[in-house]
Amino acid sequence: MPTTRKRILASSLLAVLLSACGREEPQPPTLVPLMPAGRPFSMESLMRGARLYQEQCAQCHGPDAQGHPDWQNPQVTAAPPLNGTGNEWKRTKAELLNAILNGVTRDGVPVMPAWKGRLTQQEAEDVIAWFQALWPVDVYEKWHKANADAPTAPRS
Ligand code: HEC
Repeated sequence: MPTTRKRILASSLLAVLLSACGREEPQPPTLVPLMPAGRPFSMESLMRGARLYQEQCAQCHGPDAQGHPDWQNPQVTAAPPLNGTGNEWKRTKAELLNAILNGVTRDGVPVMPAWKGRLTQQEAEDVIAWFQALWPVDVYEKWHKANADAPTAPRS
């Protein structure tokens, strides 16, 4: 076999191997913030929010903010999604901040801890920015229309 043919064969084999490896790579969790077009968040805020979320919220709401699988079961208290697939996008910014800083009670029983004193208002906003960056385009647009006073300029 001429050497050039061998080389072509070897390189196409390598390409096949590489693409096979690529397909088997596991999907990493959304640790690196993604910034969809039209979202008014600064990268600094998203980076802080990503870290705080993984430290303080992921154990209940899931590493990708997908919520607990049982979140819709009224028999159990399970954390809902924050990634735009639950009811979170129906809340105003003030309601989201209130849930985070003051916690949530159900029939007087605390079901979501209050983060006041552990997170500043800015840090709570950073976490909101991080999970809002995960919301699908149509969901974010609906939320944004309903919250016309939502910030449109980048904030730090
Ligand atoms: C100990 C588990 C737990 C932790 C930790 C936790 N949450 Fe929750 N969270 C819940 C539960 C449970 C609910 C649902 C309460 C209810 O029944 O309405 C909730 C509700 C919420 C809501 C309201 C969602 C909606 O659809 O109205 C927001 C916003 C929220 N959490 C944000 C956060 C953020 C941000 C953090 C981290 C700073 C966090 N949570 C940490 C358990 C938790």
